[in-house]
Amino acid sequence: MRVLAFIPLVAVLMTAGCVKKIQGVKGSVNKQEFGKTARGEAVDLYILTNKNGVEAAITNYGGIVVRLKTADARGRLADITLGFDTLQGYLGSHPYFGAIIGRYGNRIGKAKFTLDGHEYKLAANNGENSLHGGIYGFDKKVWAAVAESDEQGQRLTLTTQSADGEEGYPGKLDVTVVYTLTDDDELRIDYRATTDKPTVINLTNHTYFNLAGQGSGDVLDTEMTIAADRFTPVDAGLIPTGELRSVEGTPFDFRKPSTIGARIEDGSEQIQLGLGYDHNYVINRTAPGLALAARAVYPKNGRALEVWTTEPGVQFYTGNFLDGKVLGKNLNAYQRRSGFCLETQHFPDSPNRPDFPSTTLRPGAEYRSTTVWKFRSEAIRK
Ligand code: BGC
Repeated sequence: MRVLAFIPLVAVLMTAGCVKKIQGVKGSVNKQEFGKTARGEAVDLYILTNKNGVEAAITNYGGIVVRLKTADARGRLADITLGFDTLQGYLGSHPYFGAIIGRYGNRIGKAKFTLDGHEYKLAANNGENSLHGGIYGFDKKVWAAVAESDEQGQRLTLTTQSADGEEGYPGKLDVTVVYTLTDDDELRIDYRATTDKPTVINLTNHTYFNLAGQGSGDVLDTEMTIAADRFTPVDAGLIPTGELRSVEGTPFDFRKPSTIGARIEDGSEQIQLGLGYDHNYVINRTAPGLALAARAVYPKNGRALEVWTTEPGVQFYTGNFLDGKVLGKNLNAYQRRSGFCLETQHFPDSPNRPDFPSTTLRPGAEYRSTTVWKFRSEAIRK
């Protein structure tokens, strides 16, 4: 382990692979070895801590958020993200816990698209469709990492290059993802990319949250608000039909807080197709820049999460495919709906939908996207 930013009043001790910390008034970034990939690449875990003790532990394997400790209304910290204690878990098969997703978050229909008259074929890794960047997506890359600490917070900068043709996508892509943990209890994720050929891009993070603490049951009692008047209904393969449908009078209406569980089994067609919520919402926005996409709160401990983004959409996914087979942290078997995702994004299948906001990136232009998770709390309601 190396202490990258040793700040007075923060004492860090290392004992046999684990970090013990006496919390001071300033944040720190600590680095420790996390293991090796099957190819022998060394991977690290970066532990970002702010002055309030909020902690984001992120590995440069897949840019995965391994742990996120935030406070409830009583100030008690708990890890609110599903995942694994060790790298080994992440190297195995899992549903993208905490990972950066690229080149294209979400689905591309029939695993192909046409850009400037050329058809590009992608790996079909989700039925006939392509999901989350293909077989070897950004979630499986070992990213170059630089950790820093300054007045803006604790920062981890991850960079990678994706070769022309990787997973079928055109263009050599240079990608930077910066995680910044601030003393305002916010984790900011800045995505940047450039390409040398026209391509498509849609980056996101696939963290599964459970505001009661990971491993403490399902998220059905969590109250959700989503700032969206419309969502994109899907077909049986979860590809948008192209319609932007009003949420009014449907179980998709989260404009006022509603528990996730209240309508999740209501039997309507879209709920059945998603096996629950697995849909992209069209975020209400009046101006470019950061807009509130969603707010979640667990009333029994007051722990809240706000998601702000520059993106036009957010995928609300309620862990419908979790089935208890993956043994996560502390050997927790993550059951169905034991976490929810709020994946900020452009709409699924945009490369085949000229009427959706464009995901095309051209040489000379820079892809820029920012999402901020704000960790908040409010009065406990029993
Ligand atoms: C998708 C789900 C998928 C999950 C894990 C989500 O982004 O919307 O359909 O099961 O990722 O792959």
